[in-house]
Amino acid sequence: MTLSYDLLIRNATIVDGTRAPRTRGDIAIKDGRIAAIGALDSARADAEIDASGLVAAPGFIDAHTHDDRLLFSDPAMTPKVSQGVTTVITGNCGISLACSPANAAQTPPLDLLDSGGGWFRFPSFAAYREELAAKPAAINAACLVGHTTLRCAVMENLGRAATHAEIARMRELAREALASGAIGVSTGTAYAPAAAAPTEELIAVCRPLADYGGLYVTHMRNEDEHVTDAIEETCAIGRALNVPVVISHHKCAGIRSHGRSIETLAQIEKAMRSQSVGLDCYPYVASSTVLRADRLAQSTRVIITWSKPHPEFSGLDLDEVAKRLGVNEAEAVERIKPAGAIYFMLDEKDVQRILAFDETMIGSDGLPHDAKPHPRLWGTFPRVLGRYCRDLKLFSLETAVYKMTGLPATRFGLADRGRLQTGYAADVTLFDADSVIDVADFKNPTALAKGIATVIVNGEIVWREGLASGKRPGKLLLNPRSTGAPR
Ligand code: ZN
Ligand code: CU
Repeated sequence: MTLSYDLLIRNATIVDGTRAPRTRGDIAIKDGRIAAIGALDSARADAEIDASGLVAAPGFIDAHTHDDRLLFSDPAMTPKVSQGVTTVITGNCGISLACSPANAAQTPPLDLLDSGGGWFRFPSFAAYREELAAKPAAINAACLVGHTTLRCAVMENLGRAATHAEIARMRELAREALASGAIGVSTGTAYAPAAAAPTEELIAVCRPLADYGGLYVTHMRNEDEHVTDAIEETCAIGRALNVPVVISHHKCAGIRSHGRSIETLAQIEKAMRSQSVGLDCYPYVASSTVLRADRLAQSTRVIITWSKPHPEFSGLDLDEVAKRLGVNEAEAVERIKPAGAIYFMLDEKDVQRILAFDETMIGSDGLPHDAKPHPRLWGTFPRVLGRYCRDLKLFSLETAVYKMTGLPATRFGLADRGRLQTGYAADVTLFDADSVIDVADFKNPTALAKGIATVIVNGEIVWREGLASGKRPGKLLLNPRSTGAPR
């Protein structure tokens, strides 16, 4: 019998996203789904791809992004598609485009999403969802709503704990977001506009999570000297709400905290025995966020990624900026704010230990609107595959792929993604395991990665041999318990 499909991928080395050993075979796609896998010699299709010498993996899931606006402003999603990413988790670190008030651009770190371009125009999650449905991007997105965003929406003075009335309003906004399809709430208590929120406020605002099967995802209150306290707070919130938690971009920041991942991973592992705890990590020893004076002493080098009053300093080291301004570094920070920066403040051994930890997902934390962004925006996934898996042999190829596919799909509740399996959505990335590598670096941060051959989203080719196809098959992946979600 001859079967006819939309697309056939022939002769691939199949790494299916479950950590199972690789196999050789063909993959047939029909109506946006994987229709068959195996030796499909007699099958026919409208189009065929010869994947000899290439790995076929589920499309990568970027577990931590700030792509809320990029989905609209660059619907080709080039920084992500070019790495093989087919789904992004947005709305992290407490900040989301959805539910932000119109004046959010004045409040760092919300200005990481938009420092004045009029993008804060989605008063509800439903409004955001409608616009994305009307203007789909090349890849899929699953969205969190940010607690810092909710604070900005309901509070005048962000320097204190929310009142009962304010908490009630934030809780209603969170409920609306979850009911409209958000998959969870993110917090960013490390940042000024949410730092005054006590644990009780976070629990009270996040109450609706349990009703919607949502996640509590957090850029924790502290990632340096008090990192273990912050992990404890995160786990306590998860227990109080009885929901899964995700520790974002886990790191031990600052020279004084180097080496402490031994302790933090043991703590996380212990917590995992009694509750659901996830974590993600980016493969670099430098972090990046808004420019903050309190990070200077903790860093060996600081690079400016953008500056509103001084755009000409983007890409320069802070010590050079200080020299040019004829002031010390602390004073330079004050003069060029609002701004963003890269901080060399992590230890390579910690980064490797965290990446290699069984439960660690890969998340870029890329900042797509920075003038000279941290290279993680363009390089994270090929860097894990090329540098950490192939060259440093930190883990097998099957494990590397699992960390970017099956694992995040399970954690974030993306039921039919993250695996190459019959019936699953046809998100597929073909890459050359021998040559895949990141090219973006701190000098040239937007260079295309090498070795990503073809990227398929919901059965449509969106990227091939370094070129975008122009197709926009991306979907908003809704919380399955929201109203109007499929199934
Ligand atoms: Zn963060
Ligand atoms: Cu982030």
